Amino acid sequence: MKYVVAAIALCFTLSLSTAQQKATESGGKANTERGRYIAENVALCIQCHTPRDGSGELIFSRAFEGAAIPVAKPAQLRVWAEFAPRIAGLPQYSDEQLITLLTTGIGREGKPLRSPMPTFKLSRQDAADVAAYLRSLK
Ligand code: HEC
Repeated sequence: MKYVVAAIALCFTLSLSTAQQKATESGGKANTERGRYIAENVALCIQCHTPRDGSGELIFSRAFEGAAIPVAKPAQLRVWAEFAPRIAGLPQYSDEQLITLLTTGIGREGKPLRSPMPTFKLSRQDAADVAAYLRSLK
């Protein structure tokens, strides 16, 4: 019985210190509004991941729902993705996986994604803010 209590106490202490470490690494709490600003105006995620109407304007009511890439594969590239998947709500990625993607360019399968998805080298705080914003979308 003593051992069980000790094990629980140890797990609790360990998980607490991991949580504290994470908070310090990201400089505190993720900022959803700042994440929106980065995703829409700085890293321009919205430009590829949002569908467009007949005149090529973004359909804001469907922001980040996924969209066909409106340009053909450049002849000199071998790999090219024709569709930018839905990232509203982050259905395929955990927050940590998205942070890795946006800080290193490595996707959840352990390799870079196909062009034209850019290789981002954001700071951990910027990436965490974008993750918090995308997660908050329905
Ligand atoms: C120039 C267009 C473009 C921009 C800008 C862009 N993406 Fe992408 N993104 C893509 C394409 C195309 C894919 C699909 C890549 C593939 O299938 O290998 C993709 C894939 C992804 C994936 C993987 C989704 C999945 O379900 O597998 C995530 C997550 C993602 N992008 C997030 C972002 C975020 C966050 C930003 C902004 C910081 C961003 N993207 C900016 C084009 C873009």
